[in-house]
Amino acid sequence: MSLYNYPEYYDAAFNYRDVALECDFIEKKASLFGLCENGSMLDIACGTGAHLEQLGRRGYEVDGFDISPQMVESAIKKSELAGLNSHIWVDNMVAFENNRKYGVAINLLTGFNYLLRNEDALAHLDRVADVLERGGVYIIELYHPRDFITNRPSTANTWMESSDQVEVEVDWDRERTNVDVLTHQTQSSPHIIVKDGEKSFSIDMRDKYRIYLYQEMRLMIQCNGRFELVDARGSFKLDNPLDNSRDSWRMILVLRRK
Ligand SMILES: C[S@@+](CC[C@H](N)C(=O)[O-])C[C@H]1O[C@@H](n2cnc3c(N)ncnc32)[C@H](O)[C@@H]1O
Repeated sequence: MSLYNYPEYYDAAFNYRDVALECDFIEKKASLFGLCENGSMLDIACGTGAHLEQLGRRGYEVDGFDISPQMVESAIKKSELAGLNSHIWVDNMVAFENNRKYGVAINLLTGFNYLLRNEDALAHLDRVADVLERGGVYIIELYHPRDFITNRPSTANTWMESSDQVEVEVDWDRERTNVDVLTHQTQSSPHIIVKDGEKSFSIDMRDKYRIYLYQEMRLMIQCNGRFELVDARGSFKLDNPLDNSRDSWRMILVLRRK
């Protein structure tokens, strides 16, 4: 069982995110570093499509895909309700099928951290380079490296959120293992208690992801050879550098397709 099979509870759990601010960042970085004129975007591991919908409402042509059929179904619903003409499909970011070219690609929250091996990350970057116009940008949000290499995590890993009649209590990092020294992978058992009207139950996940340090990402980009790293930020506030301050709590990288 995974929260990624329950889009309505995923949306409730991550209701704290400021989707409008995150989309402002994407728009600004895309116009500063890349190609915004052709107005087409690809949301990779799009989840329930909150950003896809918001960017679509702002006039961009946004497509997206995710490996979870339930997330995709939810994203399609949102896009249809907003009257968008998006192509949204189930696919794997390591080797996704699409021939269209885009000006911008995004991969938000921690989707990239699900690329567990170097080979997967490199194959993924290659696929994204195939579908981006020259000069297009790829914006990737990852965990802040501090979360794994210090004992000062950037964020609380337990929280409560609600939306409409749904309340969720999340323990995201429950039983998280130490990062494996060879694979840089870590596993946890997120535990989510859901109260939905009269119903109350829990979702127990097994989650495995890979940590990426900043220098490792630089090396991945160099090895792939088809992008240059043009910006690194510590949050979706435009002026926050990526560093070890408390205001820097994510790792957001802006890559430009050569
Ligand atoms: C933390 S969620 C982020 C979702 C969305 N980007 C957002 O900002 O809300 C991670 C998403 O990655 C998807 N995912 C995990 N592995 C994937 C893969 N190999 N290919 C495509 N999507 C994947 C999950 O189904 C989930 O929807």
